[in-house]
Amino acid sequence: MLLLQFIQIEIPTPPKATPQDEIKAPKEVMALLKNSCYDCHSNNTKFPWYSDIAPISWQVHANIKNGRAWMNFSTWSKYDEKKKQKFYKGIVDALNIKMPPAEYLLIHKDARLSPKERKLLQDWAQKFVKED
Ligand code: HEC
Repeated sequence: MLLLQFIQIEIPTPPKATPQDEIKAPKEVMALLKNSCYDCHSNNTKFPWYSDIAPISWQVHANIKNGRAWMNFSTWSKYDEKKKQKFYKGIVDALNIKMPPAEYLLIHKDARLSPKERKLLQDWAQKFVKED
């Protein structure tokens, strides 16, 4: 365990963003995103106490690195329309099963979404999805 502590996954410095770059959404939606998604999909990660203890830290850091790389709510204005379309569609789908990740919810019970909250987020994202 002790030796493991020397191996760390580097999280790259978050991409530069101004407050204006952040995603814009109604207050209720923002609150849910911040509560359940921002740890891994934004520059505003709140590191939990165990995030520095390997091997948990690898998992936590990998999650943040990959989640942020996939979609970052802090740099929203920098994505083009095509990308945003992909994200909105992805959010609607991911909320059905994948997101927030189950292992994260085990330790972040407050990030759990009620069926009503999930629907609110999905309805919000769905509005931006242009059917083709
Ligand atoms: C514990 C970290 C974590 C949290 C919290 C989290 N995500 Fe993710 N998310 C990831 C990672 C890592 C990936 C990329 C790898 C993958 O697909 O599993 C991802 C991928 C996604 C994808 C792409 C899914 C796909 O593969 O098609 C969407 C959409 C998404 N997240 C939305 C959300 C939303 C919405 C929330 C909040 C309700 C959320 N995520 C919360 C880590 C997280």
